[in-house]
This record gives sequence, C-alpha cells and structure tokens, in this order.
Amino acid sequence: MCVCVSTMLSQSLAIVSKSTVFPDQKSAIADLKLSVSDLSMLCCHYIQKGVLFTKPPFPILELISLLKQSLSQTLTRFPPLAGRLTTDADGYVYVTCNDAGADLIHANGSHIHVRDLLSSDNGDVPELVKGCFALDGTVNYEGHFGAILAVQVTELADGLFICCTVNHAVADGMSFWNFFNSFAELSRGVKTISRTPDFCRDSVLNSPVVPKLPAGGPKVTFSGDAPVRERIFRFTGESILKLKDKVNNNDDGGIDVVAELMGRHSNDTLKFPDRNLTPSTWLRNSVSRETTRTNPTIEISSFQSLCALLWRGITRARKLPSFSMTTFRMAVNCRHRLEPKLDPLYFGNAIQSVRTYALAGDVLSKDLRWCAQQLNKNVVAHNNATVRKYEENWMQDPKCFLLSDFDGTMITMGSSSRLPVYDNDFGWGRPIAVRSGRANKFDGKIAAFPGREGGGSVDLEVILAPETMAGLESDLEFMQYVSSL
Ligand SMILES: *[C@@H]1O[C@H](CO)[C@@H](O)[C@H](O)[C@H]1NC(C)=O
Ligand SMILES: *[C@@H]1O[C@H](CO)[C@@H](O)[C@H](O)[C@H]1NC(C)=O
Ligand SMILES: *[C@@H]1O[C@H](CO)[C@@H](O)[C@H](O)[C@H]1NC(C)=O
Repeated sequence: MCVCVSTMLSQSLAIVSKSTVFPDQKSAIADLKLSVSDLSMLCCHYIQKGVLFTKPPFPILELISLLKQSLSQTLTRFPPLAGRLTTDADGYVYVTCNDAGADLIHANGSHIHVRDLLSSDNGDVPELVKGCFALDGTVNYEGHFGAILAVQVTELADGLFICCTVNHAVADGMSFWNFFNSFAELSRGVKTISRTPDFCRDSVLNSPVVPKLPAGGPKVTFSGDAPVRERIFRFTGESILKLKDKVNNNDDGGIDVVAELMGRHSNDTLKFPDRNLTPSTWLRNSVSRETTRTNPTIEISSFQSLCALLWRGITRARKLPSFSMTTFRMAVNCRHRLEPKLDPLYFGNAIQSVRTYALAGDVLSKDLRWCAQQLNKNVVAHNNATVRKYEENWMQDPKCFLLSDFDGTMITMGSSSRLPVYDNDFGWGRPIAVRSGRANKFDGKIAAFPGREGGGSVDLEVILAPETMAGLESDLEFMQYVSSL
C-alpha cells in the first residue's frame, strides 16, 4: 500500500527544475540567536503552507523565471530565510544570514486539476496535496544542513499551487505569512514591500540558557504513521456570529426574541449608551442579562466560541470517560502581550502554548459558554507576567516543545483566523484556497484560517483519528454551524 501511494505521488509530480535562489543583495544582518520560543520548535517539522491559484495568464517558464527573480528580491528583505542554522562551541543556536540560498522547485502537475486538490469523494483533503510541498518530514534542527526555505511551484492543468516550506525554529505563522505576502507583492511588481520585518533580538525572548538537545539532534515526538483523516470545515461569518451569540447570550432563540422586542419597541426612542451598539445588540444584551447563568459581563470572542464548539464536539466524538482530563492547547501570539511590546512585524517565533484543562464530563455536561469561559480565562491571563513566567519555566528545563498528543485527549489549535493568507496576489488575482502539507499533523491538530469570502468566516482544518472524525461529522451541535458549501 505504501509503495502504491509513493509511486503514485512520484508519477504525478515530475520535477521540471530545482534551483538555489540567492538574495539579490548581500546580507548585512548579524547572526540571529534563536530565542526561547524559537528553540522550543527545534524538534517539530518545518511549516508547510500553500496557496492555490487559477491558471496564470503567461507561459509557465516565464513565470518561473519571474518568481526566481522576485524570490531573490524577497530574500534580500528576509535574510534569515536564505541562511542556515549554526551551533557555536558553547551550544547556542543561531540562524546565520550567510546567503547560502533557498530552494525553488518547479513541479509538473499538468494532469491535476484544482478541483482534485480541493476535495475528494469523502470530503477529506486529498493526499495529492501533500506531494506539492518540499522538505516533507524535515525536522527544524536539520536547518543546520540544508535550506531554511523551499518554495515548490506546481503547475496544474487549470491552475498553480505555490507552496512554501519554512523552518519553524526561524519563523512562526505571522512571520511566515509576512514573508509570503511580501513575496507576492514583489512578484506583482510592487517596489517596496508594505510590511518590513523587524529582526531585533533585544527582547525578553532572548535566552541566556543553552538548549538541552539529544546527541544527533532532536527528533519529532510523534509518529507520522498513525492513521488520521483531514477535513476542512467551513463556517460563514453569519454562522460564527450565531455561535458567538449563543455563547455570549446563552439563548438559541436570541434572534427571534430580539425581533419581537424590536417590533414592540420600534416606535420608541431608545438611547444607546455606546455608539458601537446597534439597537439589536443592545436589546439582545438586555435579554441575556436575565437569562445568562454564568458571568455575562465577559465578552467571549468568536474564536474562543468556535474553540469551545470544537472542544465539545471532539470530546463527545472521542467517547472519553467522564473522569478523563482533556486539554485544549492554543498557540497565542506574544508580540502584543509583552510589556514593552514587540514590533507586530517581529520576525521569528513569538508564540506560546496556552493549555486549558477540563474533565471530559464537565466539557460535555456544562454548556458551550462554560467551555468558552475556561479558554477565555487562560487567554486573558496570558499577559506580560505570564509570558515571562513561561520563559523562565522553560529556562529551568530547556527542552523541545512536545507537539504530539500522547494519550488521545488533547486538542492543539495552531494558526489563526486572522492571518492574511489571502493577501497573496502574485499578479493575476487572489488565491482560491489555502492548504497545508503533512508537517506537524496528528490526531487532534487543528489549524484555523480566515475564509476566502472574509466577513468573519473561518475555515478549520481538522486532523482526527478516523473514528473520531466520523463522530464529529455526525455531531449535531457541531455540524449545525458548519457550512455545507
Ligand atoms: C508536463 O507534463 C506534460 C505531460 O506529461 C508535458 O506535456 C509537458 O511538456 C510537461 N511540462 C513541462 C514544463 O515539462
Ligand atoms: C409604529 O408606527 C407605524 C407608523 O409610523 C405604525 O403603522 C405601527 O403600527 C407602529 N407600531 C407600533 C408597535 O406601535
Ligand atoms: C512586565 O513584566 C516584568 C517582569 O515581571 C515587569 O518587570 C514589568 O514591569 C512588566 N511591565 C508592565 C508594564 O507590566
């Protein structure tokens, strides 16, 4: 079976060319010492994310040569991505901006259509997608010996798939997309990128501690062999609002009650204390003040509401005993949490993992709002002091981040529905979809992306054991919010 799959993939994607692309100007940046947040990623895989396009209106070879040129210009603005990792005699790890270059691969998928990559018969993400990413299975530590960035451009029968693979010890999701967006800008002829990365290393994330690494370099802490399914669940902006409403007001009939009240009061002159409140939210809030059991003054975000929905759906589908402890892990951006704040365009990793624990029995017997509040409490508490405490704890025991789920009770939310994944016009329009490679995936791993139509819509990429996925697909509470389109 394995033989079949790999033969199929290698048959499907012939490599037309592979080249090393260098920055068009020599780097002037000093070696960047990896921070606490960078070091803890050394035993995970490179980030693999790609964007799908319709067919470009120019010949592919012309496009490839244009992309080489613009990648070279982009590397000048992002020198670490053309560098390599080095470890000094004391054991500190750096990314050295030595202009060693990044890979650009042109693959021929001219027999594959965009629709073949978007979905398969059972709705799962097709395996074909994974073959469009370079450096598959590469562990970040290996950035000592090879490229920090590889771009694979796969030409399709009716489209193009641009996939970037970036060392996760060098960049987090925000830095990754800032690079990708800048690459698109320079490709479409913009002369000055709109968001210049900040390579400052003078922050509390800087570690005086030498990381503890096993001899021969760290390995990923999960087996990539466990069977999992991967599906994209789409949520419209309207559906997300409905969910947020349900979580914040705890009444499903909210809209109807409001409509009724609106009718009754429609001729009254109402004074709204807050200009941002529309009459309908004001009324809805006044309804909920009477019906909400939990603390109604804390507003739960759309994203936390969605996480709570997922937590309940997956916990139910896993059929865990009620005394089993479950963990919801969420990657949070620390740039704005620290005081003094880091530049929003700080290049590197500035993420930490916030864990929220609850018994399976509580997740299921309490309501959505309760679950959302547990998440909200921990995210709110992740302030300047907590970020620093987290760093200090790591320095006591400077080990790699254990990404995987050992006991099947964990959910790990990565990526963010705020990342600008569609701001990637290379010259012939916005992407039609975003997809990711095999990297860092295991049972319970979720990635959130903004929906293409905007307006608060969200796409969730969900990786689950097959039987758990089947349970989630038939979970009424979860599926009522999922868009069927
Ligand atoms: C891609 O493959 C097709 C079919 O095998 C072939 O006709 C075409 O010339 C190839 N394109 C390139 C750029 O090699
Ligand atoms: C509100 O005013 C309109 C006309 O201005 C009237 O037709 C309607 O019956 C009034 N509604 C209520 C609830 O008083
Ligand atoms: C941030 O945390 C550090 C360490 O706890 C503290 O010294 C500093 O005053 C804090 N800054 C603010 C603005 O809270």
